[in-house]
Amino acid sequence: MIIAHISDTHLALDAPDAERRMRDFASTIAEINALDPAADVIVHTGDIVHNGHPEEYAQASALLAKARAPVYVLPGNKDNRANLRAAFSARGYLAAVSEFIDYAVEDYPVRLIALDTLKQGRNRGEFRPEQVRHLIELIDAEPGRPIAVFTHHPPFEVTVGPDRFHFETMDGMARLRDALQRRARVIAVFSGHVHRAAAGLIGRIPASVVPCIATTLRKGEYSPPMKTRPVYHLHRYDPAWGFATESRIVRTDSSAPDERKIVSAPAASLADG
Ligand SMILES: [Fe+2]
Repeated sequence: MIIAHISDTHLALDAPDAERRMRDFASTIAEINALDPAADVIVHTGDIVHNGHPEEYAQASALLAKARAPVYVLPGNKDNRANLRAAFSARGYLAAVSEFIDYAVEDYPVRLIALDTLKQGRNRGEFRPEQVRHLIELIDAEPGRPIAVFTHHPPFEVTVGPDRFHFETMDGMARLRDALQRRARVIAVFSGHVHRAAAGLIGRIPASVVPCIATTLRKGEYSPPMKTRPVYHLHRYDPAWGFATESRIVRTDSSAPDERKIVSAPAASLADG
């Protein structure tokens, strides 16, 4: 099973680099479409758009409609829940069972659980007490398969960059960390938000952050040929070994074919800076 993990496209119609952000998003989807073997699923871990506007979501949903693999999205701090739901409701997985966009995807050897850590109007994340019960229910709904969890805000201490914690309160982060560990079935947690690669642990669960797709918003240092090339992650699942994460550098018109791929395991440290 191959998961293509993208994050933080921050589409905006009014930003000076609006066109660049569109191109970064479009070239990433085009590259994922060309993968051989193909990705089974694409997960976008939020900050899909920058201002939460319906017009921005219209652009994002048009770009994602070009993806060959099924796409699942969840909200980041720049997203607007209602507008996100409206834009991506067609496939049914965002059906509102609560205020929050927390859901499971059951179509693969690894169950996928997407969690909503958005606290509207705030940059940092939140995980409410009422979400804990729903998360445990989602985990318990099917005991047989392992689970990969996707969040926007990483629920672990990020030791690169100025901000080590990305939740509003330590209680909120602890609630989520505790719930993830309560059953022994979550085998990986994949997040975004930090705009650079990072890795950590939630108890014994390995966790990682994918850099942002929007190259103009990326943190860390990149050499000139890399500056306009988005980075995303492929999480490959093997029943014996669990997940191996590969960082992929998207080809742009000017990049040579042999520059396209670098491998990292674990997922941290690559394309970081
Ligand atoms: Fe974010």
